Amino acid sequence: MNILYVSPEIAPFAKTGGLADVSGALPRSIKSLGHDIRSVMPKYRSVPDMDMTRLDMAPLRISMHNGIHGAAVWQSEFSGSPVYLIENTEYFNRENFYGIGNWDYPDNLERFVFFCKAAIACCRSVGFAPDIIHCNDWQTAPMAALIRQADSEAAENIFPAPPRPKIVFSIHNMAYQGIFPEHFWPVLTLSRRYYAYDFEFYGQINLMKSAIVFSDAIHTVSPTYAHEIRTTDLGFGLQGALQARQADTFGILNGVDDDDWSPLNDPFTYGLHFSADDLSGKKHIKTRFREEYGLPDAEDKPLMGIVSRLVDQKGIDLVMGCAERILGLDTQIFILGFGEQRYHDFFEWLLSKYPDRVRLYIGFSHELAHKIEAACDMFLMPSRFEPCGLNQIYSLKYGTLPIVRHTGGLADTIQDGRNGFSFHDAHPDVLLDTVARACAVYRNDPEKWKQMMRFAMKQDFSWRHTAELYVDMYRHALSKS
Ligand code: ADP
Ligand code: GLC
Repeated sequence: MNILYVSPEIAPFAKTGGLADVSGALPRSIKSLGHDIRSVMPKYRSVPDMDMTRLDMAPLRISMHNGIHGAAVWQSEFSGSPVYLIENTEYFNRENFYGIGNWDYPDNLERFVFFCKAAIACCRSVGFAPDIIHCNDWQTAPMAALIRQADSEAAENIFPAPPRPKIVFSIHNMAYQGIFPEHFWPVLTLSRRYYAYDFEFYGQINLMKSAIVFSDAIHTVSPTYAHEIRTTDLGFGLQGALQARQADTFGILNGVDDDDWSPLNDPFTYGLHFSADDLSGKKHIKTRFREEYGLPDAEDKPLMGIVSRLVDQKGIDLVMGCAERILGLDTQIFILGFGEQRYHDFFEWLLSKYPDRVRLYIGFSHELAHKIEAACDMFLMPSRFEPCGLNQIYSLKYGTLPIVRHTGGLADTIQDGRNGFSFHDAHPDVLLDTVARACAVYRNDPEKWKQMMRFAMKQDFSWRHTAELYVDMYRHALSKS
C-alpha cells in the first residue's frame, strides 16, 4: 500500500505536543509492515537540519486564490521513513508554527490550504501515487474536500490515474477545529456549493467538520474518546456530524516510541538506568534529580511530576484547587509546562510560598520531561478531557504511577489500584482524595507500590501492534467508493 502521511508537526523536526510524537513514530511502524509510507510537513524556520537534502527538481507551483505560489521540497530520512518538508518563506519562515502566544497568525487558513495543495503537488513531482492520504488535525482537514472536488469535477488532474486516493482523517483533539470567518471562503478555492452543508458551523467555516463529512475513514486516538466525541459533552458541536459517520470511525490507542522513552537507555538520566526487574536505578535517579534542583531528598516525601501544556483541558484548575493541600500531605511537586498566564502566575506563587517543596520550569524542555518521568514517584494528569494522552503512558514505562481523571485515553490506559490511580468527578477535593490514597499506598504498603510499578513497566504500549490496526483502517477506507 502507498500512504502519504500529512501532518503539521513531526518529531523531531517540529513539536508542540503529542501529535508530533505520534507523527514521528507511527509511519516508521507502518513501514516495517512492508508499506511505502512517506510523510509531509511544512519546513518551519525552527526545523533543525537533520540529514536533510533539497530535492533537485523544479519548484512546485501552487495555484491559490491570489495567484501562483512556489515551494521547494526537502527530504529527510532521519526518522526512519521519508519525510518531505515543504519550504515557502512567506508562509512558514516565521517565529512560531501557528501564532504568537494566544494570537493566531491571521492567514493560517491560507498557509494550510497551501500546505495541503503542496503536499499533493509534491507527490506528483516525486512520482509517488498514494492509495491513502492520512491527514492529521485541522491544519490538514482541507485535503478531503480538495481531493473530492478535483475528483468529481476533474478540475485538476492531481494524480496520474484513477481511482482517487482515499482519505483518512485523524482527530487528535476536538477542541481545535480550524474555524474561520465566512468571508475567508475564497481562500479554499472550492465551489461555493460545499459551504452550506459541509463546512458551515454557526455562520463560520469549520475545517474539521468538512473532513468529517468528506473523509473515507475517521480516526481518533483512543477507543473511549471515539465514543465520547459523539456525545454533547465532548463533541464540541460536531457530535451530530460524527454520529452520522459512526460506521467509518475508528478509535485506536496511541503508542509509545521505545527509542525515545525507555528507562533502559534514556540519555538524560545521569547515565543511570533501570528496569522492572531491577528498580534500584530509579531511586538513584531521584536522588540525583533532587540534588540538581535543590529539593530535600527524603524517601517518605513522594515526588510528583507534571509535564503538560498548562491549559484548561489538562485539569490544571483542579490542581490549583488543591495544590496547597497536596503539599500538606508532605509531598513535593515538580511542574514543567507553559500555556495560560493565570496558571504560570499560580505556580510561580506556589513556588514562592513553598520553596522547599515545589520546583517549576515554565517553558519547553525535552530533557527535563525525561528526567521528570524517570525521577518522580507519581505523575499528575487530572485532565478534564483527554483524546489519548502520551505522558501517562510514558509514566507507566518509567514506573511513575499516574494519577489521572477517568476520561478518554486515560480511561483506556490507567486501571485504578493496578497501574495507577484514577477518579471520576472533576473536583479538586476528589483529586486530593486520590492523591491521598496514592500517598497512603506509597508510605504504608511499599510492596504493593513496587508490584504496581512492575506491572505498569511491563505493559506493552509499543506501536508494533497498533500499526496493524491502522492498516486495517486503511483497508476499510480503500473499500469505500
Ligand atoms: P498533548 O498533545 O495534549 O499536549 P500528550 O500527553 O499527548 O498531550 O503529549 C504531550 C507531549 O508533549 C509529550 O511528549 C510531553 O512530554 C510533551 N510536552 C508537553 N509539555 C512539555 C514541555 N513543557 N516540555 C517538554 N515536553 C512537553
Ligand atoms: C492531542 C491530545 C492528546 C493526544 C495527542 C496525540 O494533543 O490532546 O490527548 O495524545 O493529541 O494524539
